Amino acid sequence: MKAVLVAKAGGPEQMSVGEVPRPIPGEGQVLIRVIATSVNGADLVQRAGRYPAPPGESEILGLEAAGEIAALGSGVAGWKVGDAVMSLVAGGGYAEYALAWAGHLLPKPENISFSEAACIAEVYLTAYLNLFLVGELKDGETLLVHGGGGGVNTAAIQLCQELVPNSRMMVTASPKKVERVRELGVAQVVNYRAEDFAKAAKEFTEGRGLNLILDHIGADYLDANLRALGVGGRLVVIGISSGPRAELNLGRMMVKRQRVIGSVLRSRTVAEKAGLIASFRAAIMLALEARRIVPVIHAVFPLELAAEAHRAMAAGAHFGKLVLKVAPDGVE
Ligand SMILES: NC(=O)c1ccc[n+]([C@@H]2O[C@H](COP(=O)([O-])OP(=O)(O)OC[C@H]3O[C@@H](n4cnc5c(N)ncnc54)[C@H](OP(=O)(O)O)[C@@H]3O)[C@@H](O)[C@H]2O)c1
Repeated sequence: MKAVLVAKAGGPEQMSVGEVPRPIPGEGQVLIRVIATSVNGADLVQRAGRYPAPPGESEILGLEAAGEIAALGSGVAGWKVGDAVMSLVAGGGYAEYALAWAGHLLPKPENISFSEAACIAEVYLTAYLNLFLVGELKDGETLLVHGGGGGVNTAAIQLCQELVPNSRMMVTASPKKVERVRELGVAQVVNYRAEDFAKAAKEFTEGRGLNLILDHIGADYLDANLRALGVGGRLVVIGISSGPRAELNLGRMMVKRQRVIGSVLRSRTVAEKAGLIASFRAAIMLALEARRIVPVIHAVFPLELAAEAHRAMAAGAHFGKLVLKVAPDGVE
């Protein structure tokens, strides 16, 4: 089968399409004929050699796949060959066929395209997990999402609007994305290059500080994040793009009873992910079917141009998701 291969850890120039054997589904797994996948921030880090696939998982890039079931492994119930699905995969999405655990599949709603379906699993599950299960966000609370134009963060905005409509959200964005984030319905957007978001958060909450922050910047934002949080506030760190180490004011954290929580999705167990997906399915599928939630797609690239898609993401010009189209689907 065709797959994107990385010759050696490095830049996008290391990526090219080559031939590899088609995987065979084991017990509890299915083989998906991939119609579309999408680029995630982690793919760029994996390509550069700093985020290897978990042991035993495919080393091919790609954390999600949308397509049709091509074969079932033993012991799989509730799914059949030909079903249209979207799935989290721990690796292997940038290929014509990918393995997925049956417990990680979601049925593709009829009225969303395969390109849209390829943008659900990784970013919406990450946002859902970290806002609601890890971050314990409740309706009526205040929150800050950093980097509103990204894949995870556009998903986070939409999930809050659907699930906690009385929450009050503020979002940081680079100047060129501020207006686009407002168009998603966010009233309070802070240009992080020009404004102090901690000060803006205090004003936004009339001095109380925020209940929750979803952060993927890490070290450079730690102190300002904790200043922006109020008493009992939670900071959920899902990325460390500015680095992993920073000084922590434990005194302020203690007095304000704040929590800093690190969280990753990819290395969770198969059973943990299945539980998360069942919870997500119950909470969100109706909104997807009704197109109240529609992923924001910036551009669609053929699989052969995966390196171009990586360059586009590295340049940060995208707003929302970058899709890789692996095969025509005849449905869109
Ligand atoms: N822990 C997990 O399980 C998990 C799972 C999925 C993703 N992640 C992490 O989540 C992050 C986002 O992933 P993604 O796929 O959504 O990537 P993405 O689409 O590239 O989104 C990142 C966004 O952050 C913005 N940004 C960059 N620097 C910023 C800054 N200093 N302050 C505020 N915003 C900034 C970028 O836009 P501008 O450059 O225009 O500001 C971009 O919109 C990545 O770090 C990824 O590794 C973690």
